[in-house]
Amino acid sequence: MINTVTDAEITLESARGYEQRRFAGKRRGRRLDRLEKDFAAHLFQRIGPGACVLDIPCGNGRFFPIFSNAKQLTMADYSPHMLQACQERFGKPEQVTYIQADISSIPLSDRCVDLCFCMRLFHHMKNDEVRSSALRELTRVSKKYVALSFYNKNRFRYYKKVIRGKKPRGNYITLTHLKNLAQQAGLRYIEHTPKFNWIEQQCMALFEKV
Ligand SMILES: C[S@@+](CC[C@H](N)C(=O)[O-])C[C@H]1O[C@@H](n2cnc3c(N)ncnc32)[C@H](O)[C@@H]1O
Repeated sequence: MINTVTDAEITLESARGYEQRRFAGKRRGRRLDRLEKDFAAHLFQRIGPGACVLDIPCGNGRFFPIFSNAKQLTMADYSPHMLQACQERFGKPEQVTYIQADISSIPLSDRCVDLCFCMRLFHHMKNDEVRSSALRELTRVSKKYVALSFYNKNRFRYYKKVIRGKKPRGNYITLTHLKNLAQQAGLRYIEHTPKFNWIEQQCMALFEKV
């Protein structure tokens, strides 16, 4: 079990306000939200509306409006409060399933979705054992694609903190390192975004099953 944000920390109130609190206020939050939603929309365009999607962790449903156009959408999160907050916002259309799940042991069968989408969880993972376990599960459940975000170590925001003697919040890795772990889990790198931004730590990568 690799839960990093325990249910005790995520109250129903904080789950309900997650997207608003984290992404609606400052300009950088809004920019990141846009970037991440553009990435999700780009992926959805690639797989098409006939595809099945797993959004893990789904949080309170930031990507629901994009992925709910899929043939089947599974919204999974470790926190029951996040799942409840998401369902309160968006209801439960016929094609959508909500499940409580730990990413290191996803209660779904092998190859049951076309895309596993994992936004803003890898930077909470403290070591490679945890990352590899999550990558293996995402690979097992997907027939085709795995997309995830991570904090990129080769970015100005990381070095700025280190130079100033501050402890960076979150766990950073390089894209090369992530590619190696993904390859060991049975994934081939396709692309990452943003490509030409050397400042922002948030980075998203798309892989496909070998
Ligand atoms: C920063 S939020 C991101 C939510 C959503 N992906 C987004 O970007 O809006 C992190 C989420 O990870 C969930 N989480 C933490 N540990 C988890 C685990 N081991 N398995 C699945 N979800 C987990 C938390 O409950 C929380 O909803």
